[in-house]
Amino acid sequence: MKVAFFNTKAYDKTFFELANTDFGHQISYFSAHLSVESAALVNDQKVVCAFINDDLSADVLNVLQRKGVELIALRSAGFNHVDLTAAKELNISVVRVPAYSPYAVAEHTVGLLLCLNRGIHRAHNRVREGDFSLRNLMGFDLHGKTVGIVGTGKIGQAFATIMRGFGCRVVAYDIVENPICKELGVEYVSLESLLSCVDILSLHCPLTPDTFHLVDDNALETMKDGVTIINTSRGKLVDTQALIKGLKSGKIGLLGLDVYEEEEAMFFEDLSATGIQDDVLARLTTFPNVIITSHQGFFTQEAMKNIAHTTLSNIAQFESGTIQNAVS
Ligand code: NAI
Repeated sequence: MKVAFFNTKAYDKTFFELANTDFGHQISYFSAHLSVESAALVNDQKVVCAFINDDLSADVLNVLQRKGVELIALRSAGFNHVDLTAAKELNISVVRVPAYSPYAVAEHTVGLLLCLNRGIHRAHNRVREGDFSLRNLMGFDLHGKTVGIVGTGKIGQAFATIMRGFGCRVVAYDIVENPICKELGVEYVSLESLLSCVDILSLHCPLTPDTFHLVDDNALETMKDGVTIINTSRGKLVDTQALIKGLKSGKIGLLGLDVYEEEEAMFFEDLSATGIQDDVLARLTTFPNVIITSHQGFFTQEAMKNIAHTTLSNIAQFESGTIQNAVS
């Protein structure tokens, strides 16, 4: 099929070209993010391939429908950025890649946790400058600590497995309990109990109206002083202003973020020449006990291979009249 591929980075093209040898789709790669303006680039393609920071609001979907687009093939698991009601009204199908490597995100979560706890990022810079002191580098044993996971789906389960291997007590909250997690010894508790007992909180649930700002001022108040919070799921699960307050007061001891509430305009781009224009994000970067990465949890070779293969297979299925991995 003819595919208009938006928001292309060099690595996308590498992995999609390789996978496409099995499918033979005609892909036109555009570097522009999908928006009302860039939607004009669509030229007789019935399929648009988009990523998490593309605009899939009703306005954009309307333009795409007038251009004859019938399928949005998301090369992501998350779909909270798509106006699904508008897509349905416009008769545009939406498909996604539900699973590509839960290990990629879970392992990045562990990476943030270990780096923050032992100050590895700070030690690395220090040693390069000839400073071999251990000032402010003391961490804590993860063994025996209580880790709380909100959302024990594919990524939450992979993270729980690793944390159990570290000798942590793992408590979890989910609207559906995962039997594999229970076998691992994960204890399901209410969200309130989880927040009040954890040393480390890690978020692995989707962004929905129910989970928006799950960690806010009120939630923080119920948590232990010096708690570690890691969010590799979606930025809007946390109220960033509340996090800043929590960091200033010492309520939050360590904070690791792979996602940010207003990341769309910044993440994945090199803005080093202009600096950070977002004052809230800029403030977060000033804390020594905060690490922010640019939504790279998914970014492993295995995940990219799977994303490319499943996306192109979703498109091939659509061409043959069936829909796989539909978002509804
Ligand atoms: P999944 O669908 O396998 O698991 C999500 C879990 O969250 C499910 O068990 C579900 O029951 C639970 N859940 C839903 N609503 C909830 C609520 N209100 N409270 C508590 N739990 C709730 O999804 P998966 O693959 O584990 O991904 C989780 C999230 O990770 C995605 O939604 C996405 O936001 C994020 N993600 C981040 C990536 C990154 O690069 N940083 C890459 C891929 C996903």
